[in-house]
Amino acid sequence: MKKLLSLLFITCLALTASAEDGHQLWLRLQPANKAKVTTEKTSATINIAKQELEKYYNGEQVTLKLDNTMADDDGYRISGTTITARREAGLLYGAYALLRNAQPSAISPQPSAIAYESHPAFELRLLNHWDNLDGTIERGYAGKSIFWGNEELRLKNEELITEYARANASIGINGTVLNNVNASPKMLTTPYLKEVQRIANILRPYNIRVYLSINFATPMALKETKTADPLDKTVAKWWQKKAKEIYKLIPDFGGFLVKANSEGQPGPGDYKRSHADGANMLADALNAGAKGTGTQPIVMWRCFVYGANHKGEDRVKQAVSEFKPLDGAFRPNVILQTKNGPLDFQPREPYSPVFDQITKTPNMAELQITQEYLGQSRHLVYLAPMWEEFFKDVNPQKLKGVAGVANIGLERNWCGHHFSQANWYAFGRLAWNPLMTAESIAKEWLLLTFTGNPQFVRTMTQLMMESREACVNYMMPLGLHHIFKFDHHYGPEPNGFKANYPLEWCPVYYHKADKNGIGFDRSSKGTDAVGQYRPEVARLYDNIKTCPENLLLWFHHVPWTYRMKDGSTLWESLQYHYNEGVLWTEHAHNIWHNKMRQYVDKQRWQEVDWRMEHQEKNAREWRDVCLKYFGSFVEQ
Ligand code: GCU
Repeated sequence: MKKLLSLLFITCLALTASAEDGHQLWLRLQPANKAKVTTEKTSATINIAKQELEKYYNGEQVTLKLDNTMADDDGYRISGTTITARREAGLLYGAYALLRNAQPSAISPQPSAIAYESHPAFELRLLNHWDNLDGTIERGYAGKSIFWGNEELRLKNEELITEYARANASIGINGTVLNNVNASPKMLTTPYLKEVQRIANILRPYNIRVYLSINFATPMALKETKTADPLDKTVAKWWQKKAKEIYKLIPDFGGFLVKANSEGQPGPGDYKRSHADGANMLADALNAGAKGTGTQPIVMWRCFVYGANHKGEDRVKQAVSEFKPLDGAFRPNVILQTKNGPLDFQPREPYSPVFDQITKTPNMAELQITQEYLGQSRHLVYLAPMWEEFFKDVNPQKLKGVAGVANIGLERNWCGHHFSQANWYAFGRLAWNPLMTAESIAKEWLLLTFTGNPQFVRTMTQLMMESREACVNYMMPLGLHHIFKFDHHYGPEPNGFKANYPLEWCPVYYHKADKNGIGFDRSSKGTDAVGQYRPEVARLYDNIKTCPENLLLWFHHVPWTYRMKDGSTLWESLQYHYNEGVLWTEHAHNIWHNKMRQYVDKQRWQEVDWRMEHQEKNAREWRDVCLKYFGSFVEQ
């Protein structure tokens, strides 16, 4: 009996140990507890590197060395089992690289005899959390915030935030904005700043700096000034005092992210001041506050501005109209942060022409990891191919940094969909090296997250690589855009029009379907949005014959009978693409359901399977609703 009981006990233990909820992300390292790690110096950061290697590196010894002759960035050199770096953070990143490459079936195992160096392409590799202080998350699809609105979980959160820090450090992310760009003025009150301090203290050893989104009218909203005019002395003083308070609590505070005069947010425009007036005032305040700390603060000022000074203009042109005249008028520590495309994180957009037009002010690209317009946490859509496309058009060397709107929440698997974790992972890897291919990142992530079985990795890499184009096909092929259901942006609403909404929130504004054809004429004969691109690109997009077909309806209003390159009419081609998208979801689900089960633990297999079933249904809805609606304009 005793024996039986203990057997039962052991079985139960084994079952619990193998229960798989996805919480471990890509960090499924097996303890080896073999390595002796030597280091000349200790610090909180070096200790983390040391502990990770001591626990997980499957070799006899590792040496960690600081070398001040190396380039002054977060990079590292790995030579055999010696990791060398200029900064302590480099040792940490080097440790994670060594562990990643030492996986039994690593994609790019580095021959141990050969030394190699790796340096991040961007100084700023940031996550942007759109988390509200009440714990909800704007466009969050994986539960509530890990940072806010969660009093009773606060202590437990410490562990969670440490895990978050570790996951980010393992892929090179070095900064995080803790709150929504639609920011609450309360964020800057002392009790919340103390919370920020607490979070910063957890993140610091992992080389992650904290930043905050601010509401431009904070001092006025808190009733501490009468105005928020950036040129008013009392306002500038308020911000300086606030910055001092922040730096006293968090000496390495990174800076502010600002959404101003956009979608109802306050800004300098409310006082007829320019974005530069607003950004510069904040930059000066932060500089004053950071004095003596050695920190160089930044202001990330978002270019996602429409409906303000250029109301009525084609929405995709408004950012350039707004910011081009100000180029060069910003303080050196102001960076303009611009979404990858000129509209709003659609499944496919051309790149934003801000990246061509703003040349004197540093630029950052904002990518959206959370899949607001790409099936949220219900569709398997791997975003790295989209970002790869972006970096082909926009030279990474011209960017100071990248920010990714996070898809992280309190759900046990962090991101809602197990495959959405791949988008967090890919963002980090590309932020370090934007020249990595989406395919190599998919492979790496699959084997770290699931298994290195070649059949599984090959099959799922292919599906992941196809998934974004499939999503474009079933949601908005050939350059269609913004035909989502109002507000929540899930599902189709091609007939969407609300007289009391801004026109540029209405789907009909974007597709302009009528009996003559479909698409938005942004050519030189239309709104001339093409004119905002560098000349060779402008020419390409302007001419309907050379415009890439996957952006055709973004730039042109095209007759239904227009002949596509393959000889089909536009209407036939639209039908083909919608169908292709649906067929892919059926195919992908079929493979997962019938062929992948053997490689994946039960819980994750099941959770992905349910979602893929749903994705199939939703893709059909997109196809059926859109073809029915657009078909009503086509003379059969
Ligand atoms: C989109 C999104 C909003 C968000 C905004 C932004 O419009 O739907 O929720 O606030 O982008 O980026 O500021």
